[in-house]
Amino acid sequence: MTTTASPKNLAPKRLFIRTWGCQMNVYDSARMADVLAPLGYAPAETPEGADMVLLNTCHIREKASEKLFSELGRLRHAKLAKEAEGGRMILAVAGCVAQAEGAEIIARAPYVDLVLGPQTYHRLPEMVARATRAVGGVIETDFPPEQKFDHLPDSRTPQGVSAFLTIQEGCDKFCSFCVVPYTRGAEYSRTAATVIAEARRLVVQGAREISLLGQNVNAWHGAAPGGGSWTLARLLRELAEIEGLARLRYTTSHPRDMDDELIAAHGEIPQLMPFLHLPVQSGSDRMLAAMNRGHKADDYRRIAERLRAARPDLALSSDFIAGHPGESEADHQATLRLIEDVGFAFAFSFTYSARPGTPAAGAPLQVPQAERDRRLQEIQALLRAQQDAFNLACVGQRMEVLVTGTGRRPGQIAGRSPWLQPVHGEGPPGLEGQIVPAVVIASMTNSLSVRLEGQDAYGSPAAPRQEKAAA
Ligand code: SAH
Ligand code: SF4
Ligand code: F3S
Repeated sequence: MTTTASPKNLAPKRLFIRTWGCQMNVYDSARMADVLAPLGYAPAETPEGADMVLLNTCHIREKASEKLFSELGRLRHAKLAKEAEGGRMILAVAGCVAQAEGAEIIARAPYVDLVLGPQTYHRLPEMVARATRAVGGVIETDFPPEQKFDHLPDSRTPQGVSAFLTIQEGCDKFCSFCVVPYTRGAEYSRTAATVIAEARRLVVQGAREISLLGQNVNAWHGAAPGGGSWTLARLLRELAEIEGLARLRYTTSHPRDMDDELIAAHGEIPQLMPFLHLPVQSGSDRMLAAMNRGHKADDYRRIAERLRAARPDLALSSDFIAGHPGESEADHQATLRLIEDVGFAFAFSFTYSARPGTPAAGAPLQVPQAERDRRLQEIQALLRAQQDAFNLACVGQRMEVLVTGTGRRPGQIAGRSPWLQPVHGEGPPGLEGQIVPAVVIASMTNSLSVRLEGQDAYGSPAAPRQEKAAA
């Protein structure tokens, strides 16, 4: 009988990971846990007493990076407490702040043992060994020529019913305001074969829904098995062939890379869910040019129309920035107009945050913070009204719910609609991973309440598919 989950000569060690930022960071955290498992590290629920605490950070806006230093201040006490007991806690900072600030982090928080950028995670075991011996901190923020994906072990931490799979990383677009090209490096696409193999593994581990991830996921152009390269549309068609994989999504996309084949794929691949996150940032052509987005507001309107022509029940979500340098009241009004014209089921919106080293940070005509705040409030009020209207329109509709687990109270299920809305309702245990027809009975602020339909839904993997749920 094989019993060795971790090497026998290593006592189990507790690893606490805290993740901020985008879904790619969530994915990376799982992969770092995979890399550390053979060293005897097992996940811990709290940082207190842990042998290693790993903070996976985000640098996208100022507030996001500030969180790191307040968290480090708290962790210092936990680290000292562990040392007082004769133990050792390795404190590691990973992610985009690590990449952007490197040695600065150790200068500001000298008790940090390890600083590692997003392209170095495959080297974690060696870094941990060095940090264990070292007195000062270990810093790894090189973009190594070899790609980390080729050197990471196969994913093994089960992600559950709904899983993330990073297929593309980095960005060559250099939007005026954004740190990602500097923190994640140049655009890189994993090969089709490694993506398909990982998707199959995720399905074996219980995934029914996979979200393909990338900073510019629709720019993916991975090497094809027989030579040449595939487009994202082709990859989606291949993934749709995997038995048991019921739902596919991809995020985040750039309007510039929304090609004809990908738009058509939304009408052709039933597993591709009718919900797309497509950030536009602004509705003003002047601002889109200043942001270096490479498309006009009407291009976005047209893409939205064509997507809906291919898949009539498709809903869009987006990102908006209020008060980019140089933004006038007229530009702001153009953003409100675009929101009115397109209509969004969901959105993220932020006030512009100047990021050191990006072109916009040094640009003249910075918009006063109070003005950024006011514009954001107007944008958010409109988006909120659209989201509420979208959710309300779901009431009375039949839709298929992917059951992701049990709800907060006994006898409740939690799940997800095709439009990514969190869903809850009464239902027996044991439905996890099943796709169950349901009728929406109420719309809450951020979720839908449903009634599961029909006995055949209970436990039967052959529950009838809905033709199409109207939005
Ligand atoms: N690759 C994606 C977005 C990645 S960052 C894209 O091209 O759209 C996620 C979101 O954060 C962005 O869409 C943008 O709306 C927001 N964001 C990025 N940098 C920002 C900044 N400096 N200030 C405010 N919001 C920012
Ligand atoms: Fe940032 Fe622009 Fe790249 Fe998106 S496309 S990650 S906003 S630089
Ligand atoms: Fe943040 Fe880096 Fe993601 S800056 S949004 S964690 S790519």
